[in-house]
Amino acid sequence: MDVQSVGVIGAGFIGRGVAMAAALGGMRVLLYDIQEEVLERSLFHMGQRLAARSRHYGLTPGEMEEVLRRIRTVPRLESACDADLVLEAIPEDFEAKMALLRDVDRFAPPRAVLATTTSTFSVTELSGATSRPEWFLGLHFPQPPTSSRVVEVVRGYVTCEEAHELALRFCKRAGLTPIQTIDVPPFLVQRLLIPFIHEGIRALQEGVASASDIDEAMRLALQHPVGPLQLADRMGLDHVLATSEKLARETGDSRYLPPRLLRQMVRAGKLGRKSGEGFYVYDDVSTSAASAASDSMRVERRPLG
Ligand SMILES: NC(=O)c1ccc[n+]([C@@H]2O[C@H](COP(=O)([O-])OP(=O)(O)OC[C@H]3O[C@@H](n4cnc5c(N)ncnc54)[C@H](O)[C@@H]3O)[C@@H](O)[C@H]2O)c1
Repeated sequence: MDVQSVGVIGAGFIGRGVAMAAALGGMRVLLYDIQEEVLERSLFHMGQRLAARSRHYGLTPGEMEEVLRRIRTVPRLESACDADLVLEAIPEDFEAKMALLRDVDRFAPPRAVLATTTSTFSVTELSGATSRPEWFLGLHFPQPPTSSRVVEVVRGYVTCEEAHELALRFCKRAGLTPIQTIDVPPFLVQRLLIPFIHEGIRALQEGVASASDIDEAMRLALQHPVGPLQLADRMGLDHVLATSEKLARETGDSRYLPPRLLRQMVRAGKLGRKSGEGFYVYDDVSTSAASAASDSMRVERRPLG
């Protein structure tokens, strides 16, 4: 069986990206958010994003309209659950996710695959909120799927083969490359990314090299598009710090303990691109996170110090 319809619960940063990717892949999307105005805003964003990237997607204006028509906003959770795959994309709050998943389990058809976008909680533990842990898995998007085409498909301890296969087919249809992982949070990308950023910050903190040399070394030596400090500035230093603290708390692993310099910079309000200054100073500051992400190559960057 293929996924024909997807219910997306939570129309924020990740939810609307998944909705758009699924609609571009020809699937019918039912999008629900507890805040009605978020639904309206999300539809608007998706329309703008599609229009801006129509050439990239190779779409005519008519086809674009068709993609948008596949996304239906619904006023009740119950309606969003009437799909082959139901994905929760609400904020990273364990109790809130458990409560929502209990309801999703009640409303979704018996053979629907249920999925979570969690980035830090155990998928197996979250599956305990449902009566069908075999039909539950994680779809972890390191970035919204409209920015990065990769998704980690996280198999819970008891996820069945059929549900796993269906999720893989969903990813392919949505134009995403699935990375198959087991349920050991933090998931693969964060596991590699956070220590990478931490070591870049520690090298700066210890005076090993300047910010621009640290970034240049990693860009040229490893052919990364950006170095660890540039990346942290893009992500937002407050976000990096919160993620590090959460991972250190959840795993008890010292690799995720944030460096002193990161904490000091966040306290000083130097949050990266969004605040105009982080490891670099940005002369062209946009306060909108969305446009900051897409404009990042146009700003003038000057390293500090
Ligand atoms: N933002 C990222 O870069 C990122 C990256 C990887 C994973 N994630 C994960 O994706 C999930 C969503 O993150 P986000 O950044 O999109 O959050 P967000 O805050 O942008 O959006 C969450 C949306 O969920 C809605 N919501 C809250 N409770 C709800 C409920 N009970 N029912 C319906 N809607 C509800 C909110 O109104 C909000 O619009 C989180 O688990 C997060 O850890 C986020």
